[in-house]
Amino acid sequence: MSTSSYTLCSGSIDQVTLWVVVMRGRAQFDITVHLSRIQGTDLEKQLTTEIEKHRTSLQRGLVPSFEPLHSICKPCLPLLLELAPTKSVCGLSLENFVNAPTYNLELVGENSQIQILGGETCSYAPVLELRPINLADIPQNDLPLFSAKTIRANIDNQESIGSTQGKVSTIDGEVLYFKPRESGREGQFDRELRILLEIQSRGLIMRVPRLQGLVISNETLCTGLLLPLIPAGMDLLHPQTWTLHSLHEKWEAQVRSIVEELHAHYIVWGDVNPGNVVIDEAMDAWVIDFGGGNNAEFVGDGERESVVGDLRGVGRLFGGWLGRRREGVPL
Ligand SMILES: Nc1ncnc2c1ncn2[C@@H]1O[C@H](COP(=O)(O)OP(=O)(O)OP(=O)(O)O)[C@@H](O)[C@H]1O
Ligand SMILES: [Mg+2]
Repeated sequence: MSTSSYTLCSGSIDQVTLWVVVMRGRAQFDITVHLSRIQGTDLEKQLTTEIEKHRTSLQRGLVPSFEPLHSICKPCLPLLLELAPTKSVCGLSLENFVNAPTYNLELVGENSQIQILGGETCSYAPVLELRPINLADIPQNDLPLFSAKTIRANIDNQESIGSTQGKVSTIDGEVLYFKPRESGREGQFDRELRILLEIQSRGLIMRVPRLQGLVISNETLCTGLLLPLIPAGMDLLHPQTWTLHSLHEKWEAQVRSIVEELHAHYIVWGDVNPGNVVIDEAMDAWVIDFGGGNNAEFVGDGERESVVGDLRGVGRLFGGWLGRRREGVPL
């Protein structure tokens, strides 16, 4: 949830303690309030009323409001603005997310006075789910290494706060697509990197984004990989692609031929789904995303990451799924 000054990432509300995690720019603020530590303040009275409302909504099965969480952020706002001058992550270097400050704040007080503890110290850790891997643990390769300090993140997305994935620019102004190694998705990143390296080492030339390099922090940590940005790329989830009926057959043939060639080299695509077929400005289809896994609408659990799964997935994608979109069947 985003307000004009910060983004609320998570939180918890009960009758004893409230905590909330918010982000502003690259800085993370973990704010806690123990009601016993703000006894007698106006904030305590306000929170008690809001928590009661929250509890009643939950009991009635209604969507509760996050009012109490915003109420504990409010007194911290001037400090948030001071410690994190901008809300946007747009244009920050990727290094900023590898070493980002986390402040643990607590509101305490008596009578009418609320005090914020913890603003003077912070710890540094990766944010936006970044989970770098040691460069030494990546198979030998001769990929170019780009310092995270030189790559500017999210250059076209002012509001993007949950992830560094997307359009970035290099020090030379080249625009690329960054795929970060993220917490909970380490296996996907490692699979994708392994397969892209395999495609590269076999010298395969196909409409699959070719690895451009790795982003490195502190000379030893790999935070993600860089791909070319597919020009004017539009995946098949875009309704505009559904209306271009005359091209569907061509796209299917192109995807089938890429998948066939991959299979000839014992490489399985894996996650066949409309988001992973991208149409470029020349109206040609690319196959992307080698993170694996499966979207059961296209590849059944029993055929996950298999040759059969790929073939069945392509059939379901261009047959049933795109066919229904063509006919205007509602999603
Ligand atoms: N190289 C690229 N050029 C242009 N657009 C891209 C590129 N790579 C990915 N995209 C766009 O970003 C979207 C997400 O990318 P991708 O599927 O690789 O990431 P993901 O994190 O695995 O996503 P998901 O979990 O949704 O599959 C794609 O559906 C596509 O629209
Ligand atoms: Mg995908």
